[in-house]
Amino acid sequence: MKLAHKKNEVRHIVSEWRARNLRVAFVPTMGALHEGHLALIRQARQHADHVVVSVFVNPTQFGPGEDYQQYPRSLSADVEQCRTEGVSLVFAPDYEEMYGRAGAPQYVSIRISKMHEHLCGATRKGHFEGVLQVVNKLFLIVRPDVAVFGQKDIQQWFIIRQMVEEFDHPMEVLMGPTRREEDGLAMSSRNVYLTEEERNKAPLLFEAIQRLSQRLTGVIRDSNNGDAGIPVDESLIKAEIERLRANGFKVDYLSLVSTPDLQPACVIHSGRLYVIAAAVWLGKTRLIDNVLLNTRKYPDHDA
Ligand code: PAJ
Repeated sequence: MKLAHKKNEVRHIVSEWRARNLRVAFVPTMGALHEGHLALIRQARQHADHVVVSVFVNPTQFGPGEDYQQYPRSLSADVEQCRTEGVSLVFAPDYEEMYGRAGAPQYVSIRISKMHEHLCGATRKGHFEGVLQVVNKLFLIVRPDVAVFGQKDIQQWFIIRQMVEEFDHPMEVLMGPTRREEDGLAMSSRNVYLTEEERNKAPLLFEAIQRLSQRLTGVIRDSNNGDAGIPVDESLIKAEIERLRANGFKVDYLSLVSTPDLQPACVIHSGRLYVIAAAVWLGKTRLIDNVLLNTRKYPDHDA
């Protein structure tokens, strides 16, 4: 396995693979790798001859007052985990390699419309523009055939896939399922911030969105509304928000959105894909999670 800190090293290595018609899969990360990241790497290996992993804590996607400084960093452990997983190349650039000298002017940016208005984009202003800025650069450096991103960051996934389509990146974007701890808490590099008491409560988030998903699926199954769609019973959502609040969570959002536009859904149409997504604060830690909503009328028949 190779460790590269420079873009040109990556370009050189990848172009040699491409000259030999080898397929390249890419898993971008901010490091502090856990089982969720490793599962994406394993998935990537199924789709290519070589897997590239990037490790870069991207400052442009952190807002003022967010955890850029505290974000856990563990490059040597990350590199060892990548080696064990059969990764071919780890790209770990520093700030200057990605963005030039500190304070260098940046006159060009990627603008998102609509898809960033709700969910995390509503409170994390500029976050997804920062994500696209770095992911677009990384795609142009690595030039993968396929990239794998986690369902855990569902808004990020849909926005990146949209960029790939609209910018004609010649690649495929795959989704890796959310990996969870045994009690259901979605794995995250930020879980290390939780106190013991907060950690014990944290699985209530997944329980809330799962319960909501089951209730909505039940309503869809029992309804007979044809193409008109089924109005969403907002009180089901409010009840879950209240339950989380009663347990000490500060709820940033808990919503049902349509895909791929990520707009709040008041009506559910059978056969379309919706997402129930939530972000909460437990003390100083922000947790996110989501589930995809199954809108097929008879889910048991065509699983
Ligand atoms: P990071 O938070 O390190 O996540 C890297 C990838 O791992 C993302 O695709 C994320 O969705 C996925 N991931 C995180 N937790 C997961 C879990 N429990 N199960 C499955 N996949 C999980 O997301 C970023 O970094 C950055 O925004 C990045 C895309 C690298 C751009 O800077």
